[in-house]
Amino acid sequence: MKTLIINGSPRKCGETISLINKLTEQLNGEYKIINAYYSNISACVDCRYCWSNDGCAINDEMAGVYDYIEDCDNVVIASPIYFSQPTGKLLDVCSRFQTYFAAKHFRNKVPLTKAKKGAVILVGGGDGNPQKAYDTLSVILSHINVTNIYSLVGSFNTNELPATEDNEVIKEIKNIANFLTEELQRII
Ligand SMILES: Cc1cc2nc3c(=O)[nH]c(=O)nc-3n(C[C@H](O)[C@H](O)[C@H](O)COP(=O)(O)O)c2cc1C
Repeated sequence: MKTLIINGSPRKCGETISLINKLTEQLNGEYKIINAYYSNISACVDCRYCWSNDGCAINDEMAGVYDYIEDCDNVVIASPIYFSQPTGKLLDVCSRFQTYFAAKHFRNKVPLTKAKKGAVILVGGGDGNPQKAYDTLSVILSHINVTNIYSLVGSFNTNELPATEDNEVIKEIKNIANFLTEELQRII
């Protein structure tokens, strides 16, 4: 089982990474973590290269993500919410999935034939509504053929309680790990 994890937090020892660590401790198979703030991945500039060509005109670390995403089984996006939305750098990385949208709509190709499972893990300090961020990230996941997305999981009072001490979220992280593994175990 292969899982791509995209981390939208700039804080190297923050809440998001602490929940990602909880997940990877319980995840079968291999995983690849992309750190939106520390990867050499720039935003899509709508140059429209992908309207008529495979891939992307920008040559950066996204190439490795495109390779991995081809045959991975799961995609998990984890992020703090900023103004109730995913962070800007996370959206920069995700904007590079535009090539898959272009494949379908302009090049009449079926990108990413393998259907995937996914999850969204969010954290917030305490004064925002995470639903908008979840909805945005669910749309993004659907563009990369994630057809089965786990319900919103997160810790939304991190100003008062670190995410790793939020028992409810820790339970849900375990449920995500089970959800991502379930069907594959049945097949094997
Ligand atoms: C620019 C900015 C905007 C934020 N907006 C929100 C918000 O709308 N709602 C909220 O609950 N927390 C908000 N926060 C707080 C972070 O989501 C919170 O501190 C989170 O736990 C940080 O996660 P991290 O440690 O993984 O980076 C914001 C923080 C920053 C820096």
